[in-house]
Amino acid sequence: MKGKFFPVEMRRKDGGSLLLREAEEGDAGAVLAYLNQVGGESDNLLFGRDEFAMPLEQERQWIASLRKQEKSILLLGICEDELSSVASVSAFDRRERIAHRAEVAVSVKKACWGLGIGRAVMEALIRFARGQGLEILQLDVRADNGRAIALYESLGFETLGRYRNFLKVQGEYFDAYCMNLYL
Ligand SMILES: CC(C)(COP(=O)(O)OP(=O)(O)OC[C@H]1O[C@@H](n2cnc3c(N)ncnc32)[C@H](O)[C@@H]1OP(=O)(O)O)[C@@H](O)C(=O)NCCC(=O)NCCS
Repeated sequence: MKGKFFPVEMRRKDGGSLLLREAEEGDAGAVLAYLNQVGGESDNLLFGRDEFAMPLEQERQWIASLRKQEKSILLLGICEDELSSVASVSAFDRRERIAHRAEVAVSVKKACWGLGIGRAVMEALIRFARGQGLEILQLDVRADNGRAIALYESLGFETLGRYRNFLKVQGEYFDAYCMNLYL
């Protein structure tokens, strides 16, 4: 069923190609290296540079378990053989009462910002979520992350409220907005 959505090849704003495909167990090392790099490229994620301390085997097992879940996906964006984006939909499908909801997350390597990758990835994840019968996508975004907020609002996400002191980065607190997309 996931094969209906991915892999898919798209055009970036600079004319280059973007391949979106589901992560496989063999991608675990590249995904960890990617997350440890992008963690240091902005203060907008839940981890900083080299702070994504997941052992390789655990990452492999996590990818394997996500692959078996119909409503969840770890999605890779590949530009000219290079991992340029990692995004996910994580459904709460083990509990019936919240199985209609999922958490969505996206990041793009800084060198590739502004090429339309973030939008293409989010649009693809929304199509996927709709197709799998999900009803609500939720996320938390740092309140000063204007680039991401503009993207989410343009896709129809609405702000539920402000989460005061959501992040503490080197002793400094940052608020976040909790946002939902009702599919
Ligand atoms: C947020 C992020 C995913 C956007 O990815 P991207 O590939 O640069 O986004 P796109 O090029 O598709 O641009 C999408 C939208 O972002 C907004 N945007 C892009 N550049 C912007 C800028 N300089 N200022 C404000 N908004 C901007 C626009 O709304 C744009 O819409 P458009 O398609 O109509 O031009 C990326 O910047 C990122 O990974 N940041 C670090 C991690 C992060 O913040 N993740 C989100 C955590 S909640």
